[in-house]
Amino acid sequence: QALFGAERKNSKGIDLTDLAELGPLDRGLDQALKEAHQAAPLVGGRARSGTARAVLNPADLRRRVGEVVEAGRPELEDVLARAARAHGEWDRTPAETRAQCLERAADLMEAEQPRLMALAIAEAGKTVPDALAEVREAVDFCRYYAARARADFAQPLRLPGPTGERNELRLAGRGVFACISPWNFPLAIFTGQVTAALVAGNTVIAKPAEQTPLIAAAAVRILHQAGVPGDVLHLLPGDGETVGAPLIADPRIAGVAFTGSTEVARGINRALAAKDGPIVPLIAETGGQNAMIVDSSALPEQVVRDVLISGLQSAGQRCSALRVLFVQQDIAPKLETMLAGAMEELEVGDPSLLETDIGPVIDEGAKKTLEAHAERMNRESRLLYEIKLDKNLPPGHYYAPRAYVLDSLSRLTREVFGPVLHVIRWRADQLDQVIDAINATGYGLTLGVHSRIDSTQRRVWERVKAGNTYVNRNMIGAVVGVQPFGGEGLSGTGPKAGGPHYLHRFAVERTLTIDT
Ligand code: SER
Repeated sequence: QALFGAERKNSKGIDLTDLAELGPLDRGLDQALKEAHQAAPLVGGRARSGTARAVLNPADLRRRVGEVVEAGRPELEDVLARAARAHGEWDRTPAETRAQCLERAADLMEAEQPRLMALAIAEAGKTVPDALAEVREAVDFCRYYAARARADFAQPLRLPGPTGERNELRLAGRGVFACISPWNFPLAIFTGQVTAALVAGNTVIAKPAEQTPLIAAAAVRILHQAGVPGDVLHLLPGDGETVGAPLIADPRIAGVAFTGSTEVARGINRALAAKDGPIVPLIAETGGQNAMIVDSSALPEQVVRDVLISGLQSAGQRCSALRVLFVQQDIAPKLETMLAGAMEELEVGDPSLLETDIGPVIDEGAKKTLEAHAERMNRESRLLYEIKLDKNLPPGHYYAPRAYVLDSLSRLTREVFGPVLHVIRWRADQLDQVIDAINATGYGLTLGVHSRIDSTQRRVWERVKAGNTYVNRNMIGAVVGVQPFGGEGLSGTGPKAGGPHYLHRFAVERTLTIDT
């Protein structure tokens, strides 16, 4: 029980169809959407001043969500010195005290749910249900890692003493951790990385994605309010080149947690390897070329529902999202027609409206990459369906979600991070080829299977190298402590976030032997 935290409850949601629950949330959201939000380097708990840059709403570029002051060299130097000095005392602070800080932060996040949701919507273009899930996941990470720290860090592990000596093993923080987080889960992944590092006894310098500094600043303020000392957790908003690269290159950094693209993870890995001094661990969670295998025993209605959720919810901007749908030839024509019909029903638009299914993509760069992919797909595949965008949409980064039918997975050389599905048909005798093709991508994050044949489910699960396999359901939204999340190969290093071994990678192990 203690290992899997079964005694801990995941956070409760809100019934978005219940007006009694929706009313207060709606008013809270409305008010928070009107506020001007601020982010700045938070050094020793204090905001630094400087030239501010406007943060615009990706769903409507006329709307200013707030402003950010980005960090430069002086802030970087200051936080490194402070975080290094503060490590010893924080690491000696009882794990129980650190765990309580995380639990207080979870309570504060729940209390500030409308404000945090509003930021996820306005700054990252999340829909209302996605924004709700975002806050819940952040709360779950706080409570789960608090429980894990109590189980693994509070008491040393007594080991058997056949030599007549007393033997103990304890976990300690590594030092200063750099946490570099993505815009697609700007609160949940940010909070997950930072709280894991903190509760394991590290001091933390957090660098949020350039696109989403405001919600990260809100999270850091909450963690400080919850009792994490100012010198133990610092925030450095800014871009990868100015802030991220010099941060990880500094010899005072004892570990790096990174979530983002495989390319950037590789760059970080190279930079860490090139440093003199201690060997620094990298915990990387990266992308996927995630597939779903559907055979002719599957229930088509269920498949269509799960494909839309997996591939298009969150505008496909999840590392877990479905990219390649392998459908058995016999049912492919029917399933493709049903899929196109279901896509026609989806609403693309302002994510703050409850009726919206799909919001914008994050920025102009993301849209351009998707447009370049579409140009290639137009030559190399057949367009199955494209959701036409409403001409009256506000000026924002909207991209028309679509599905293509392809002849081979080899046409996709890289992850396509957006609302784009690729369908490939396979014949009944080709299951092993499908499995081989998925493994040949080198990615190994999520996998979906829709089949009512037990032996097929087993065969696929045993042979496909994927971190998270989901059978007869959608393949996104891993639940903290229940479905530990993370992949292998090009998809990341592990250990899995929200799993029982995650904190260990943020720690060193020390043994004590006393001759009695
Ligand atoms: N954890 C998210 C999911 O499971 C992706 O980062 O969808």
